[in-house]
Amino acid sequence: MKKVLKILGIILGVIVLVVLLGAATIHFGGIPSYEVKAPDLKVEAYSAMIAEGKRIAGMLCANCHRGEDGKLSGRFMNDLVPEFGKVWVPNITHSDKAKLHGYSDGELAYLLRSGVKRDGQFAPPWMPKFPLLSDKDLHSIIAYLRSDQPELEASDVVQPAAQPSFLTKLLCRVAFKPLPYPEEPVVEPDPSDKVAWGRYLAVAKFDCYQCHSADFKTNDSFVPENSSGFMGGGNVLIDPTDGKTHIFSANITMDKETGIGNWTEEEFSKAVRFAQRPDGKILRPPMVPYAALSEAEVSAIYAWLQTIPTIHNDVERNW
Ligand code: HEC
Ligand code: HEC
Repeated sequence: MKKVLKILGIILGVIVLVVLLGAATIHFGGIPSYEVKAPDLKVEAYSAMIAEGKRIAGMLCANCHRGEDGKLSGRFMNDLVPEFGKVWVPNITHSDKAKLHGYSDGELAYLLRSGVKRDGQFAPPWMPKFPLLSDKDLHSIIAYLRSDQPELEASDVVQPAAQPSFLTKLLCRVAFKPLPYPEEPVVEPDPSDKVAWGRYLAVAKFDCYQCHSADFKTNDSFVPENSSGFMGGGNVLIDPTDGKTHIFSANITMDKETGIGNWTEEEFSKAVRFAQRPDGKILRPPMVPYAALSEAEVSAIYAWLQTIPTIHNDVERNW
């Protein structure tokens, strides 16, 4: 009997030790690093590309990267759910103190598609990845980042390093992994195919589905339609103006009772571009007005929304 107990004790001790060692490895090892398999890329920057890159980045990057000085000098990410840790969005202006410094075009493409930074470290989900964005749009963003637009002028602000929680470090070992870099060119649909174009805008170029599905954790980056509650809202977001208030994303499927099935295209456009709902309410951040979208783009998104499955989900609005 004593011997059995002793053996059990030893086994238990070994298990505890392994768990502790595992926890210590995760805690002290931090976020894992990977090989940077940057493509050989040199983006030729034409002025039309820079303008389009600026327009895209204004809707896709600036809400996170814009600092107090109005440049892309970074900020404390007060709208990140606290269980992920404390994170500062880095400065990506042209200062040699900024995180953009030293990046080649290929390394930038690799970061934006796969999530692996130039130094090899993986960027957790607090920095989005853009696997479905067309090469053309990706190159426009890169051309813009190289340009002399005022918001990219050197700012020497240095944002503190991220303090990821244990949960983030753990998830970055088991669940959150770099996305594979596409082997084929990524081509966008022709705008004359209105529905396909609307889909591209909502799931690849402006990432509407990321916020408007049920939860960031169950979003599918490669087949967005497989995200749980696709476009049916309910994702818990934090209002960046106070860093506290929970705002749930809205159900924007065409369900007539709980979605926007009764909205005309004009009403939809007013909500998306100017944050004004048909009932006169103003949409709150993090839903920001997409004023730089063209009427044709909003119309395409509306046309595509008509074609996806409706979801009956009465999202709490706490107006
Ligand atoms: C939801 C907020 C958010 C959005 C949107 C966002 N970023 Fe970031 N970005 C971050 C955070 C946070 C980091 C820090 C990542 C880290 O070090 O783990 C980061 C890091 C970076 C870096 C520096 C990587 C390094 O080596 O340290 C670059 C460059 C960058 N982002 C560019 C972009 C571009 C271009 C876009 C738009 C296409 C964009 N980001 C959109 C939050 C965001
Ligand atoms: C950063 C997250 C985020 C992104 C990205 C986003 N939205 Fe929203 N959206 C929200 C939130 C949150 C609300 C609810 C705001 C409120 O309740 O005040 C909302 C509300 C809306 C509404 C109003 C629906 C209603 O019933 O009030 C529409 C329409 C809408 N979004 C369309 C879009 C489109 C189209 C895109 C892409 C171009 C988009 N959103 C991108 C977070 C986001």
